[in-house]
Amino acid sequence: MPLVDGAFVSYLEGLIPARPPVLQDMEAYARAHRFPIVGPMMGQLFYLLTRATGARRVFELGSGYGYSTAWFAMGVRDNGGGDVFHVVWDDALSRSARGYLAQLGLASIVRFHVGEAVAALRAAEGRFDIIFSDIEKEGYPASLPVIKQRLNPGGLLLVDNMYWNGKVVDRRATDADTEAIRTFTRAIFGDPEFASTIVPLRDGVLVARRQEAASAA
Ligand SMILES: C[S@@+](CC[C@H](N)C(=O)[O-])C[C@H]1O[C@@H](n2cnc3c(N)ncnc32)[C@H](O)[C@@H]1O
Repeated sequence: MPLVDGAFVSYLEGLIPARPPVLQDMEAYARAHRFPIVGPMMGQLFYLLTRATGARRVFELGSGYGYSTAWFAMGVRDNGGGDVFHVVWDDALSRSARGYLAQLGLASIVRFHVGEAVAALRAAEGRFDIIFSDIEKEGYPASLPVIKQRLNPGGLLLVDNMYWNGKVVDRRATDADTEAIRTFTRAIFGDPEFASTIVPLRDGVLVARRQEAASAA
């Protein structure tokens, strides 16, 4: 159940300014290997949100080979520099990301970590301006308390796959991943510390701002 008609996807992708050839190579790799990257429309949204918030510290949970990381890193670079954490439990993907981000001239901004992402966030020093999660969907509900400890007041939480290819609105879908996304969605929308919405790009991305009045967790 695609959220956006293919003609609109092509139209929107045609409007995004030409990407560096390395990003285009990464997109071609995803198409060839059916690897689920966020794609250029969401990448552009992440760049925009990073620039709009002036973010200098970004933490990514479940990073793949660095495509979404690259968009955050371009935003942080254009904000004057900072740190983008790339965390994935596959060593080969981490090595591949190091290669791509070096080719993009962004490696000095990115901190690479191989391991379980929620544990890495729990262990990380300090707080973050943006946290983006794209981990296994069953892990979404348990990640929220850790995210709340690490997200700055005024910071953004971004979470991919909120529509889960339409399964969240299919009453017959009761598998663990779908239920986990529903549980997480209810929790974040019901949390007075966050102002939340879902942007219907690709598979639906949560954009939630942690209110400044939030007490330090
Ligand atoms: C959907 S891909 C990420 C794609 C990336 N956001 C992009 O657009 O370039 C998710 C990756 O995170 C890894 N992953 C899933 N859950 C994880 C977890 N809890 N800790 C670390 N890595 C995880 C998966 O193995 C996979 O490589």
